[in-house]
Amino acid sequence: MTANAPHAGTSPLRLGRLRLGVNIDHVATVRNARGGDHPDPVRAAQIVADVGADGITAHLREDRRHIRDDDIVRIQAATGLPLNFEMAATEEMVAIALKYRPHAACIVPERREERTTEGGLDAAGQYDRLLPIVAQLGAAGIRVSLFIAPDPRQIEAAIRLGAPVVELHTGEYAEADVAERPAQLRRIAEMAALAARNGIEPHAGHGLTYDNVQPIAAIPQLAELNIGHHLIGEAIFTGLAQAVRHMRDLMDQAR
Ligand code: PXP
Repeated sequence: MTANAPHAGTSPLRLGRLRLGVNIDHVATVRNARGGDHPDPVRAAQIVADVGADGITAHLREDRRHIRDDDIVRIQAATGLPLNFEMAATEEMVAIALKYRPHAACIVPERREERTTEGGLDAAGQYDRLLPIVAQLGAAGIRVSLFIAPDPRQIEAAIRLGAPVVELHTGEYAEADVAERPAQLRRIAEMAALAARNGIEPHAGHGLTYDNVQPIAAIPQLAELNIGHHLIGEAIFTGLAQAVRHMRDLMDQAR
């Protein structure tokens, strides 16, 4: 060992790069408020691609309240980034996913009966309905993710469903007060580790901000965060490129 080499055990742990998927739905929400074409979520996708986002996340809702069908095609054409297509587990959405073949499909709850009290997809309760959908999307080469609460019952369902990815819902963590937050963080860390031990790639998202992202980004098993509302909100004040760069820096510092 040379004089300058770091001593074993004292060098900081270097974790792999954490991917950032930017959810651009909120740009479409503003656009739709006037019914026209501005602001265009595709322009947002191009900006976030230019400043180093790793993916674009967009949720085509049954009521098309933000992203529309033609946005999906335009987003795929406009950037080389992988599209993470958030969708309800319905026949209509499965058909759309199979038509456009996004890189990933994240199954999210849209109706009350599909979600757990924490807001995630009730993968355990919806097992029979989800099984053929996960299989069909997977067979088409689409990476299926389940947006679930950090709950062992839901991870266990994801394992049985054969989902390659879970996205752990960070909403309860984000909303927790200072006293409750460590317990919420621990749940997410434990479930990320449980998923990884079972060969599932854990992601996380919902309600993440500049202030709360770093403890989540420091969870070693997490491979990707999907963030939207805070970034689009900050973009009003600083511009979207700056907002994404700052989030990226915070995530990198936490690793
Ligand atoms: N991940 C999933 C599955 C989502 O549905 C959403 C949007 O609620 C996000 C991440 C991003 O959440 P937020 O807009 O609160 O950052």
